[in-house]
Amino acid sequence: MSSEATQVPAVDVSHLSAGYNGQAALDDVTFTVEKGCLAGLVGPNGSGKSTLIKVIMGLMKPWSGAVKVSGASVKAGAASIGYAPQSELVDWSFPVTVEDVVLMGRYGKIGLVRRPGREDRDIALRSLERVNLAQFRRRRVGELSGGQQRRVLIARALAQEADLILLDEPLAGLDAAAQHDLLRLLEDLRKEDRTLFVATHDLSCVASDFDHAVLLNKRVVAFGRPKDVFTADLLAEAFQRHLLVLPGGDRTLVGP
Ligand SMILES: Nc1ncnc2c1ncn2[C@@H]1O[C@H](COP(=O)(O)OP(=O)(O)OP(=O)(O)O)[C@@H](O)[C@H]1O
Ligand SMILES: [Mg+2]
Repeated sequence: MSSEATQVPAVDVSHLSAGYNGQAALDDVTFTVEKGCLAGLVGPNGSGKSTLIKVIMGLMKPWSGAVKVSGASVKAGAASIGYAPQSELVDWSFPVTVEDVVLMGRYGKIGLVRRPGREDRDIALRSLERVNLAQFRRRRVGELSGGQQRRVLIARALAQEADLILLDEPLAGLDAAAQHDLLRLLEDLRKEDRTLFVATHDLSCVASDFDHAVLLNKRVVAFGRPKDVFTADLLAEAFQRHLLVLPGGDRTLVGP
């Protein structure tokens, strides 16, 4: 534990501002995510979660401020970060198979020139197994259900074999069993010492199962341990409405 305090954070965001067409989506955002933890990114629709994830990935240039991943600046499309975009923002009409999509996660490692080899295919298959989709690998990805497509994106992020994984709303639209399985997967990944930063609207899940939470509404309303972040006052400030926090045995419920 004592080494943790001196460790370089997995993600270090300082005084970050960014937006679109002169309109700010993120305003002076500062927080850190420690290595090996499961951190949640929560906030209302339009609060800047996806924008923040894109900036951390290096897919969008900030107006000001800095992002460091394991102490270093990020280059665009960094192979060292696993990333699953918000499913709604993906064009699923491409005529590619599920396996093809997951293999795309390998391109950062193998480059665009070399063709994926046996090892890449094995990694892709193992990634699909971890989200219970191996049997669909030859299907066209457009033929999968919404929840299955979401899990394909998670498998692609896993195939990147990165220490840091950013997931944008991976839990949305999953049935109860698939949500439960995904949470177990996230916990397994944390045990493998990976760092997970997960944007989600499932506040109860972050309150009950995550190590850290960042509460965002264009700026950081709070960050830290969920029990310190999910107070009625801070939630009301972020969501502009009263939310109940009901601590239970091993579950905490957060909702309207
Ligand atoms: N491509 C874009 N062009 C212009 N404005 C955008 C674009 N993407 C997002 N925005 C705006 O930036 C703000 C933040 O959007 P963002 O997608 O980051 O929110 P979010 O927290 O991910 O929301 P949600 O919970 O709905 O996914 C919103 O006001 C949104 O309208
Ligand atoms: Mg979003």
